[in-house]
Amino acid sequence: MNPLAQPPHYSSEHDPSMKIILYEHQAEAQDWLDDLSRALPEADIRLWQPGDNAPADYAVVWRAPRELFAKRPDLQAVFNLGAGVDAILDIERKEPGTLPPNALLVRLEDSGMAQQMEEYAVYTVLRYLRRMDEYEAIQREHRWEKLEPHPRKTFTVGVLGMGVLGARVARTLTTLGVPVRGFSRTKRQIEGVQTFAGAEQFDAFLDGAKMLINLLPHTPDTEGILNARAFERLAAGAYIVNLARGAHVVDDDLLRAMKTGQVAAAALDVFHQEPLPDNHPFWTTPRIEITPHVAAITLRDESIEQIALKIRALARGEPISGIVDVKRGY
Ligand code: NAP
Ligand code: GLV
Repeated sequence: MNPLAQPPHYSSEHDPSMKIILYEHQAEAQDWLDDLSRALPEADIRLWQPGDNAPADYAVVWRAPRELFAKRPDLQAVFNLGAGVDAILDIERKEPGTLPPNALLVRLEDSGMAQQMEEYAVYTVLRYLRRMDEYEAIQREHRWEKLEPHPRKTFTVGVLGMGVLGARVARTLTTLGVPVRGFSRTKRQIEGVQTFAGAEQFDAFLDGAKMLINLLPHTPDTEGILNARAFERLAAGAYIVNLARGAHVVDDDLLRAMKTGQVAAAALDVFHQEPLPDNHPFWTTPRIEITPHVAAITLRDESIEQIALKIRALARGEPISGIVDVKRGY
């Protein structure tokens, strides 16, 4: 049974045996502590500080430093305050054995992010399909000029990643009347979506697509997947929307493809280095649109509700969903 389907178990008893450390590097760390403490009144929850090596059963973290994980054989699970676990797995990759060997790594599953991704994706598809970005530029020059509409039937949108977020996005895009393709590691079936799986079907997925929306996890297999070779296979004047991780894009290849016109425009939410450095050419390249990693933000109430349910399920010895396969990388 999906533990998320269980009614929450509100214990009025204070169980000092359940200890949770919390690490949120942003200004709202205290708010996270207050809300998590309200959701799990039976637990002792503390903000982790450097030097804190005291016992903990669970860790709830976003972009935590290596020291938090080291020397914690007692940790039963690490809850990541995001869908992507690449930052945590990167620590383990650089220093194998840092993560407690028996701790489960658990990612957020949707918790309000799928709707945000859906909004971003629908917005960009309609913006580019209807050439609104070009009309904005034309208006700035006070020109009255009608552009040839993009034919909807050949405005094929390829969604990379058919997981929690990508599948939701692909399904919604089918309602816009554009052809939708989906790419994943294993074969998925989604009504109205032409699906492709594995490296051997990647070229077929790309061939002639007019737009790519990236929602892959960052793993060694997906790093740099949006590169010159991939751009070449797309329809001329294609659109790139990267909502996953900056490391998926080879920046120089994208800039070159935009120079030749093979890629017409790009909407980028994530970057190799964040914040995007002031001197990065993306800032000044015409038709690159930048948002500061906000495509789907972590919503505190929804995330805490999900994590509290899972911590209680684990404490009862029940299975939970959203466990990361560390070897696979997502
Ligand atoms: P998910 O549920 O784990 O889905 C991952 C999808 O990628 C799955 O369909 C998986 O294939 C596919 N995949 C993994 N490796 C692949 C490979 N080598 N080749 C082809 N397909 C591969 O992840 P999610 O919850 O949808 O999140 C996706 C990513 O979005 C996160 O990892 C994060 O980086 C990013 N994100 C960004 C923001 C933002 O604000 N910009 C917010 C949230 C998340 P299978 O279906 O076969 O397993
Ligand atoms: C945000 O980028 C996430 O992975 O949730």
